[in-house]
Amino acid sequence: MKGRFFAGLIISIFILGTGCNVQKQPHLTAKKDLVKEIDNSIAQAGKQYKYFMQQIPADKFPRSLDKDGKLVTSGSGWWCSGFYPGTLLYLVEATNDQGLKTEALNRLKLLEKEQFNKSTHDLGFMMFCSFGNANRLAPKPEYKQILINSARSLASRFDEKVGCIRSWNSKPSDFLVIIDNMMNLELLFWATKETGDSSFYKIAVTHANTTIKNHFRPDYSTYHMVNYNAKTGLPQKKHTVQGAADESAWARGQGWGLYGYTVMYRETRDKKYLELANHIADYILKHPNLPADKIPYWDFNAPGIPNALRDASAGSLIASALIELSGYNQGKASKTYLDAAEVMLHSLCSDVYTAPYGTSQGFLLNHGVGNLPGKSEVDVPLTYADYYFVEAMLRYKNLKR
Ligand code: GLY
Repeated sequence: MKGRFFAGLIISIFILGTGCNVQKQPHLTAKKDLVKEIDNSIAQAGKQYKYFMQQIPADKFPRSLDKDGKLVTSGSGWWCSGFYPGTLLYLVEATNDQGLKTEALNRLKLLEKEQFNKSTHDLGFMMFCSFGNANRLAPKPEYKQILINSARSLASRFDEKVGCIRSWNSKPSDFLVIIDNMMNLELLFWATKETGDSSFYKIAVTHANTTIKNHFRPDYSTYHMVNYNAKTGLPQKKHTVQGAADESAWARGQGWGLYGYTVMYRETRDKKYLELANHIADYILKHPNLPADKIPYWDFNAPGIPNALRDASAGSLIASALIELSGYNQGKASKTYLDAAEVMLHSLCSDVYTAPYGTSQGFLLNHGVGNLPGKSEVDVPLTYADYYFVEAMLRYKNLKR
């Protein structure tokens, strides 16, 4: 079956393969054994991150590359600070490399203080991708306390009237919520399980339900941002910041929604979340603008398709979510989602997206798009592309084990 699948992939890439605005055209070759391919990619990723470690100042977190290929770093307060330690921890899990482990633990120390940061909604990304993985692999009371404090800080941004956690701070009349915020809810579910305090769970469910009501269009694509009236709690504007247009489907936003509602189903077993996650997956996978290698353009409605840029971060996070979602479905749907994730992983593992050893300052993947309208981080490596790529590879290996 898989042989036929990959043969089909090659033919369709041959036919459609001119639509990738990356330096090279994809020349994906058939690989019968994706697990073996992933094993090679993980081994290469371990080596690449050992090189990466040497490029990053001890008091900083990697962020991306500038237009000259130089490393751009951030402090611990940037929304992406948890991805580098999180990726290191996934690689430690896969390779048991003690050098990577020491590096991960050192970066966690730098990140610790963000547990009390109430000025951002990104605490799930920052703290659960890092300390959440650290605690999963080697539970420690201090990790638990950091995660509980992080969940409290995140919950402090919840507003009863709106029924959401505030995403971005703005003028008092606006209450801004972006679809990305769905990714921060996993931390709240963990906190309820750990503490027995159901208020975290209730906040997560309320936020997810309000988001279903107001973020999604009839075709199950999602707006990037909903601006709620802070007084009435009602939506007053729906628009984009990082997408091509207010009514377009920003690729990573669709991915955040897909991943977020898959987690919602995992944590609540409420079928309405599974149905929504399936609808989002179908929107993505049946979209006429999804390229043959299944790594999306940065926006499904990007101007210039098929010559628009791809976003490897959307590809890796969608692949990871689809692997989990396939496990909650049976029959055709389950197979469709897993087949698509396989194509995505096969594409990401290829040299079209994976940086050769010692290049890209040590990032794993090239061709991410952070914020194209803001002219920031365009066609560059991104720490979250690496994180969800490694996560997806480990999920796939675990599934096949
Ligand atoms: N959470 C911000 C982004 O996806 O770019």
